[in-house]
Parts: sequence; structure tokens; C-alpha cells
Amino acid sequence: VKRRSFLETVLGGWSLLLVGTVVGGIVQYLLPRREGGAAHEMIPIGTVDELLRPGEARIIRLGKAPVMVERTATGQYKAFSARCTHLGCTIQFMDDKLSPHFACNCHGSQFDMNGKNIAGPAPRPLDPYRITQRGSTLLIAAG
Ligand code: FES
Repeated sequence: VKRRSFLETVLGGWSLLLVGTVVGGIVQYLLPRREGGAAHEMIPIGTVDELLRPGEARIIRLGKAPVMVERTATGQYKAFSARCTHLGCTIQFMDDKLSPHFACNCHGSQFDMNGKNIAGPAPRPLDPYRITQRGSTLLIAAG
């Protein structure tokens, strides 16, 4: 009887552990992910004066994501994912005075300064980031 009771206790414990693991996995799957949540917050990336001159663009890091931040000739800021929409290589700013654009060296895709795909195999525009100015500070967020 003691052996049977011991085995029932052990099996009951294992069953509870198994059920807890499965239920925990389901709850974790259903709840929104906290990792990467920072990407939706407005994150300061620098002050207006220190970041870029009009007509310039450069890559900054938002967590692990490379983001291309651009200041237009009229002083407006724009931001896009710096990941090419073809296969994800990092794009570069081509500081061509007559026709500035973003280029991907992997397979030759090109994007205009609004992020629109204009050449090569990239199937769609660059993913936009929200960028806003609060005082002299620029803030950025995905989406
Ligand atoms: S990954 Fe950019 S063109 Fe292929």
C-alpha cells in the first residue's frame, strides 16, 4: 500500500507539472509579448541640432533594429527601417547630390527618400517609423 501511495503521489506531481507547463505555455502565447514592446514607445534618439543637417540621413539603432533617420532639405524628419524589404540586408544612404536615395548592396534594390522601392527586387517600400519632435528632442517609434 505504501509503494502504491508513493507512486500515486509521484505520478500526481508529474501530472501537475505537465499541466502547469502546458497551461503556462498557452498563457504566454496568448498574452502580448513584452519583448520588443519598447519598439512601440517613443524613444529619444537625440536633439534636433546634433542629429543631422538638412539633406542627410544615417542609421541609428533602436534596440537591435537598424533605423534610417533622414532630415529632408526642408528640415523635416523621416525614419524607416533600414532593413531591405527583399531579404533583409541593411540599406545605405547614397549621398548623391542630384539624386539621393537608399541602396541595398545585396541585390541592388533602391529606395527613394520617401522609402518607396524604385529599383531592384525589393517588393515593397521600407517600413516606416514614427518620428516626432518634443522640444529639441527627436523621438522615434515603430509603426
Ligand atoms: S536584400 Fe536588398 S536587394 Fe536583396
